Amino acid sequence: MTLAFIGGTGLTQMQNLIQHQRLELDTPWGRPAAPVVRGELSGRPVLFLARHGDPHVLLPHQVNYRANMAALKQAGATEIVAVNAVGGIHSAAQSGVVVVPDQIIDYTHGRETTYFDQRNGPVTHVDFSWPFDRALRERLLAVLREANLPRLESGVYGATQGPRLETAAEIARMERDGCDIVGMTAMPEAVLARELELPYAMLSLVVNPAAGKSHTEITMAEIEAVIHAGMGAVCELLATLVAR
Ligand code: HPA
Repeated sequence: MTLAFIGGTGLTQMQNLIQHQRLELDTPWGRPAAPVVRGELSGRPVLFLARHGDPHVLLPHQVNYRANMAALKQAGATEIVAVNAVGGIHSAAQSGVVVVPDQIIDYTHGRETTYFDQRNGPVTHVDFSWPFDRALRERLLAVLREANLPRLESGVYGATQGPRLETAAEIARMERDGCDIVGMTAMPEAVLARELELPYAMLSLVVNPAAGKSHTEITMAEIEAVIHAGMGAVCELLATLVAR
């Protein structure tokens, strides 16, 4: 088993990862955002990919998700934990809370969402009723409980197109839809993992109240401060996860 991590905003490099190799990979869908790092965490071999590039240059809609996921599979990943920064919609999803979502609603558009679009390939519709791997989620939840971090053990992730943040009305609609958190990267990443038959789960760090959920504007400074305070704990958590 080789666990791979995808780092999002605020996690372009994992401080506690010992790097052995940076694999410059190419895939039939193009090049991934960055070299795939082959390294060691808690004495175990792991892989790491910076979703937005290293340095972080790609906006969520510019990421070549197909190349990223195919490159991880090519490098030998057998399961994936993706980390991302999100806005909080549910009242329990306050800044600093870590969420392990169990559902997704996809509001993105214009992204390449499948590997099965070759004209001469098989027509395939993957089951996506439960977008995250149950066993991997349980392992994440076990280390979160042990670390006693502020957490939400389930939640609906609303994936928006970005790069702009949402309007207050859009967030109110998403709340009516049942979304608990909002981010820009879970889709199509999660479905591509499913198509590649790679178990996939997510750790979402809430970095701001979603639009209209506070009386102030959402600023990058506010987001960066929460990321700075929270991503260290997320890295520790991942180290505990691989040590199991
Ligand atoms: N909306 C969408 N994506 C985000 C947000 C947000 O408020 N915060 C971090 N990523």
